[in-house]
Amino acid sequence: MAVSILIADDDAIQRRLVENMVQKCGYETIVVDSGDAVLALLNAADGPVIDAVVLDLVMPGLDGMGVLAKIREAGLNIPIIVQTAHGGIDNVVSAMRAGAHDFVVKPAGIERLQVSLRNALNASALKGELQRIRHSREGKLTFADIITRSEIMAGVLRTAQKAAASTIPVLIEGESGVGKELFARAIHGSGDRKSKPFVAVNCGAIPDNLVESILFGHEKGAFTGATERHLGKFVEASGGTLFLDEVSELPLAAQVKLLRALQEGAVEAVGARKPVKVDVRIISATNRKLLDRVKNGQFREDLFYRLHVLPLTLPPLRMRREDIPHLLRHFLARFCAEENRPITSISGEAMVQLSHLEWPGNIRQLENAIYRAVVMSDSDQLGLADFPQAAAQSPTVSDLHGDPVVFEPAFHQSGTATISGNEIPIAPLSSVGTLAMLTSAGEVRPLEEMESEIIRFAISHYRGQMSEVARRLKIGRSTLYRKLDESAADDPATGGAEKAS
Ligand SMILES: Nc1ncnc2c1ncn2[C@@H]1O[C@H](COP(=O)(O)OP(=O)(O)OP(=O)(O)O)[C@@H](O)[C@H]1O
Ligand SMILES: [Mg+2]
Repeated sequence: MAVSILIADDDAIQRRLVENMVQKCGYETIVVDSGDAVLALLNAADGPVIDAVVLDLVMPGLDGMGVLAKIREAGLNIPIIVQTAHGGIDNVVSAMRAGAHDFVVKPAGIERLQVSLRNALNASALKGELQRIRHSREGKLTFADIITRSEIMAGVLRTAQKAAASTIPVLIEGESGVGKELFARAIHGSGDRKSKPFVAVNCGAIPDNLVESILFGHEKGAFTGATERHLGKFVEASGGTLFLDEVSELPLAAQVKLLRALQEGAVEAVGARKPVKVDVRIISATNRKLLDRVKNGQFREDLFYRLHVLPLTLPPLRMRREDIPHLLRHFLARFCAEENRPITSISGEAMVQLSHLEWPGNIRQLENAIYRAVVMSDSDQLGLADFPQAAAQSPTVSDLHGDPVVFEPAFHQSGTATISGNEIPIAPLSSVGTLAMLTSAGEVRPLEEMESEIIRFAISHYRGQMSEVARRLKIGRSTLYRKLDESAADDPATGGAEKAS
């Protein structure tokens, strides 16, 4: 799902004009003709995701100022760009005071609108990131801090939200870096226990002989080196949540004790004479299939069923590629602020490539790739070269297969385009492509191969504006991404061989 902009104007012609420009900037649009309709959409529980609003100030009924006031009252965090007629400077001042992010004077030119939208989106991404970091530090992460626009994640989020409302044990499964801990923290931060501790233990990182003492505590003198009494993570998490990360790595002896603690709601410290009652909510996580560990005899079946009451599986990033542009935007805003770098965008070419990588390290890997790129880049825009990993996997049209494609330059154009809020400078580029239909041996080429070529040509032709590419090819965006995945999988140069294994 691309970035979507809500446009509100009572004048139908103005609405069309702005809608056209916003779409040319590469954003998706939703248009309404009144202030009331804006509020209805923003407040709807299952309404569309809206990233920014272009708002006319003068409208019959609830006008722009009225909308701004209501948005502020509701505490909604969405950037608003107001449109005003020439000479309406007083209105602009009031609108900016009422929380508008920026203003454009009618009739606004596309460049002005584009800069304004891009700044607004960057600022709001940064605000979101800062909020997430603050929430994380204060132990107040909620589901609102999880960046995602994908359908499969929406389902996972719904389940997690329900889990947050109870103390049901949750087992989060997913590859490394998919956000298991983030989800665990959001479940904790969205439930009744949010003001109590969230204690994380990495079960894979503790030496076997210390597991029990770290989880359940020990008495002074319980073993050599136990010079002080130690409470243990269970007691530390009292009233709150204990997050058992990499729970599959727990040694069998500790599994027995954990099972007993869960059954009895009490823990016995090493060297203690009697157990103490604890009230702890358990969320566990694993990046291996825990059931396989059970089948291999490495994990107790009875404990498995205790932890696995509500399983949550987080899909890898490559199964929710529509999240990639949004994550990129957020991380870019954050690292630019942290590193004090004036980078405003990612090139469309890089955005497309990054959206098609496999990302075996998932979101953590993507986060680190952006971090590195921000630190290393000298330009105000990140390009493919700033992501060596992406560049290494980047297929060009001509090296996808042996047969050359001929692009006949017919006319040239230049300007700018955007993908998901990021500007792509348009180099003069051939606009008419000719597809070779025969192989050098004079045989007709496979349909699939030609299709893949057409798609790649369309992406380059529309400078990475995936919505436009899909629209022109008359296929859905998800079909477009699937076809790209399939063609990448067929092509060893893009790492497809690895994927198949
Ligand atoms: N949807 C998301 N939105 C924003 N940041 C995310 C998202 N998912 C993951 N992250 C970030 O990615 C990084 C990795 O996430 P996290 O530590 O939760 O993953 P994990 O599944 O626990 O990984 P591991 O298995 O390696 O422990 C963190 O910095 C986290 O904040
Ligand atoms: Mg983790």
